[in-house]
Amino acid sequence: MQKPRVYITRVLPAKGMQLIQDHCQMEVWPDELPPSREEILTRVPGVAGILSLLTDKIDAEVMKAAGSQLRVISNYAVGYNNIDIKAATERGIAVGNTPGILTDATADFAFALMLTVGRRILEAARTVRSGQWQTWGPSILLGSDFVGATLGLIGFGRIGHAMAKRASGFDMRVLYSDAGAEPAYDAKAAHLDTLLRESDFISLHVPLTADTHHLISTSAFEKMKSNAILINTARGEIVDPAALYDALKNRRIFGAALDVTEPEPLPMDSPLLELDNLIICPHIASASVITRENMAIKAVQNLLAGIRGEPLPNIVNPQIYE
Ligand code: GLV
Ligand code: GLV
Repeated sequence: MQKPRVYITRVLPAKGMQLIQDHCQMEVWPDELPPSREEILTRVPGVAGILSLLTDKIDAEVMKAAGSQLRVISNYAVGYNNIDIKAATERGIAVGNTPGILTDATADFAFALMLTVGRRILEAARTVRSGQWQTWGPSILLGSDFVGATLGLIGFGRIGHAMAKRASGFDMRVLYSDAGAEPAYDAKAAHLDTLLRESDFISLHVPLTADTHHLISTSAFEKMKSNAILINTARGEIVDPAALYDALKNRRIFGAALDVTEPEPLPMDSPLLELDNLIICPHIASASVITRENMAIKAVQNLLAGIRGEPLPNIVNPQIYE
């Protein structure tokens, strides 16, 4: 019997590639940069499954180009705002993602960013390399305290919980704003306004939706404490970049760190790159060796289940089974 055809939009960690090869006839986009839209539209006709990255827009046009035999779109990410879920559901196409697997790596990274901005680690390291280290001094490079400080988590799902767990080890007070969330680790539910007004650190852990687009805008920055530090490891579009620029430039807040930006990659002429109280990383929160391997295995399990018409281990649109 002929193996089903699948299109893979990037080379994944080897264990994942091997699994696909065992069961499918695969076509893989070989470059490090994403395939163009034209490339995707040319490659998908006739495939039973697509394995995509968060950089690849998979919308109704791509699904139509693929044809009615397309059964599954497996995203190599927990976020899936790059996929038109409504269009997939209407066509009975299962959409898979990789929740759970990258929770700890992402929380580790968000926490590392909090420590880095709060304790001014990049600035301090630059001081040494630029020859400005002259002495030890009582007031040199003073940063934030963590014990007793308040961490506000906007979004309290798996990654939010993992942040609260880490924060409890630092003896922080934790607030969260998330209507449907399960309480955990002594974190207290709070209205968003209260969280913005009371937090020393604010970390974003919501998915990007119409409701969270530019959730952090000028009115949110106006409510924050002057020592507040904002961390975004979720999606760039949750923060209004112009409002962030003003808040940091005018020292309305102390600092920020972004692992995600709007757009990605951030253009080199972005005014955000002028700011000395902002750290920007290239969307690497889940980038640890084991996490990326496990994400590949999970994404391939979703892909293989989907092409066999079996329920996906992690499905975004279970309505298709109703
Ligand atoms: C990364 O941003 C992901 O959604 O997995
Ligand atoms: C992240 O890992 C999530 O499961 O939401």
